[in-house]
Amino acid sequence: MSLSDATRTTVALRILGIETSCDETSAAVVRGPIEAPVIESLVILSQDVHRLFGGVVPEIASRQHLTGIVPTVAAALRDASVTFDDIDAIAVTHAPGLVGALLVGTSYAKALGFARGIPVVPVHHLEGHLFATLLEQPDATPPFTALLVSGGHTLLLDVPAWGAYRLLGGTRDDAAGEAFDKTAKLLGLPYPGGRPLEELAATHVSASSADAYRFSRPMVRSNAQPGDDDYYDLSFSGLKTAVLTAVRAAERDGTLDTKRPAIAHAFQSAVVDTLVEKTERARRAHGRTRIVLGGGVACNRALQQAMRRRFASRGGQVFAPSPRLATDNAAMIAAAGLFRFVAGDRADPAMTAHASLALPGLLSDVP
Ligand code: KG4
Ligand code: ZN
Repeated sequence: MSLSDATRTTVALRILGIETSCDETSAAVVRGPIEAPVIESLVILSQDVHRLFGGVVPEIASRQHLTGIVPTVAAALRDASVTFDDIDAIAVTHAPGLVGALLVGTSYAKALGFARGIPVVPVHHLEGHLFATLLEQPDATPPFTALLVSGGHTLLLDVPAWGAYRLLGGTRDDAAGEAFDKTAKLLGLPYPGGRPLEELAATHVSASSADAYRFSRPMVRSNAQPGDDDYYDLSFSGLKTAVLTAVRAAERDGTLDTKRPAIAHAFQSAVVDTLVEKTERARRAHGRTRIVLGGGVACNRALQQAMRRRFASRGGQVFAPSPRLATDNAAMIAAAGLFRFVAGDRADPAMTAHASLALPGLLSDVP
């Protein structure tokens, strides 16, 4: 079926999305068509308890999903003024993520589907992130270059069409969000540290003073060629060590408090420059004009601005979701689920959760 045929048949389809892969219990009702899905409701229950531990505690996450899932789904239906009878399919994240957390969503979705006679569609969480921007900006549609940067993932993809993905590169160690979180911790900021670090960096007043920091851009060789194994890949652990060294030195001479904004700014600039350069390489190699960002780090204003500066002169358009849709949410799962439902995907009774799983539709023609 072509996409235009699909459009005609999916306008009226209504999908209930369920997301429990990490520390957000979320449910949403989204209505077709595939190219311009409409959010009828979105409920996100964020598990703040993990702040106390400086990171997500898997066992606590599972328990909170268990207590949160039923009222969250009920609230999503109520907000959309619909009942289960109005739902054509249930889309649920089945991978990747914390297995215990994912199992709450998949078990609930299967039971609900069985009891109500509603088909269930398994959705890959990262495919969900690719659809997030489309919920707000109908032009965020393939072909495009995608950069997914979250606490758990950092992926650079070429997307010629929905469901067809060229995996170009990824991180070799820390995810981009993880690097923000760990660096924030070194600077004494709360978890999750991405946003506080961005705010601290914004207080840095650029000065020509000799104490300004500059960290080297990881994996960015100017003579790198397509086909080199570091051409698209990313790595952030060395940068984190450079920050640690700078923090220790400032601690020793008692100047850390005054230098924290400069260190945060220098770290953020190194991450942003690296992400922009790798994205440009991917865009150029595949002749794309659209760039779609996703994941929590896509909320970063410095990243968005740098992307827009770099691509505007090349006639490029940069699409970034609003913070509510950039971070984990069930509306993006429902939007991807709508596409998968029309493509014929269905969960069988044995569907289960997977901590890691390749993105569906990966193309193998990547050099
Ligand atoms: O996508 P997300 O909500 O959850 C995961 O699937 O991981 O991403 C959360 C990550 C955290 O590491 C957080 O520190 C980071 O996104 N983050 C940011 C910003 N807002 C959230 N990183 C940099 N700048 C921000 N403004
Ligand atoms: Zn995510």
